[in-house]
Amino acid sequence: MNLKPDSIDLAYFSGTGNTGYLARLLAEKLSRRDIPVRLTRIAEASADPLPPAGGVLGLAYPIHALNAPSPVFDFISALPPGEGRRAFIVKGPADPFFAGGSSHLVIRALKDRGWEVFHESMVVMPSNVFVRYPDSFIRRLLRAAESRTETAAAEIAAGVPRLERPGPVARFLTRHLSRLETRGGKYFGRDLKASSACDLCGVCVRSCPVGNIRQEGREIVFGDRCIICMRCIYLCPRGAIRPRLFRFFPLKRWYDLGALSAAGPGQNAFGGKAGSGLQRFFRRYLESTQV
Ligand SMILES: Cc1cc2nc3c(=O)[nH]c(=O)nc-3n(C[C@H](O)[C@H](O)[C@H](O)COP(=O)(O)O)c2cc1C
Ligand code: SF4
Ligand code: SF4
Repeated sequence: MNLKPDSIDLAYFSGTGNTGYLARLLAEKLSRRDIPVRLTRIAEASADPLPPAGGVLGLAYPIHALNAPSPVFDFISALPPGEGRRAFIVKGPADPFFAGGSSHLVIRALKDRGWEVFHESMVVMPSNVFVRYPDSFIRRLLRAAESRTETAAAEIAAGVPRLERPGPVARFLTRHLSRLETRGGKYFGRDLKASSACDLCGVCVRSCPVGNIRQEGREIVFGDRCIICMRCIYLCPRGAIRPRLFRFFPLKRWYDLGALSAAGPGQNAFGGKAGSGLQRFFRRYLESTQV
């Protein structure tokens, strides 16, 4: 039986660009296998990715508190019934832990809408919170991402089934941590503030995926619907948006994935003493990736 998709609708949510990068990488590799791919950005376009008969739905997202960010679930709820059509998932977390757990709620939500997930893959991307990975390590991750998306594309094109089986601990953590995060978003949103460096350019207002930012007179106001995607903080051209209490959340320096990827393969190292501990956690992921 030929399981090669006639076409793919790949919908992705990306707060700060990593998953967008990942989705484009995968789309390119699928296209090279003569599968037409339509990329749609969730919460950005009113497009309705509905694969025609013989087509497959793809869903790519970053991990937020071991789960998918809420726009992914809103997107699934708005999907037309799948009526048994096939779907796949691509996750772009910042570390390889509990990756299986981070998709079981998404798989269930898709199943409830009649979509059968046959494949899921995980591609570790740089962290966009707390710890900024060193440039050389980001380059190493991006090289691994090339290889991982190549494997995923080959398997998706051939209809190879691949699903992770999360244990009870991973399931428990996904469910409860993501609830905490949803509540935390309320406080994080209210904690954000635009400093006097703000020139009211409106970029943040236009870019927030959940419409949580508005301009009132000469003031930028943040509401309580924040999903902690971090986009406004890194996108602000004046670097004016900062949390007041949650100051440790944003990275001090952002990274440019295009430039880092062009700079070569990088090293298998976090660098520095503190980093060597962290690096151990990635060893198995990097060793299992052909680069
Ligand atoms: C609020 C929040 C929670 C996160 N939680 C996790 C997590 O549980 N596990 C993980 O590996 N990465 C986590 N991350 C990191 C992102 O998943 C990762 O950096 C991702 O590549 C960002 O993708 P994006 O640029 O498309 O938004 C989190 C990031 C944010 C902002
Ligand atoms: S993006 Fe920055 S400079 Fe522009 S309106 Fe928002 S806070 Fe102000
Ligand atoms: S307020 Fe900022 S961090 Fe919160 S959802 Fe909007 S863009 Fe993302």
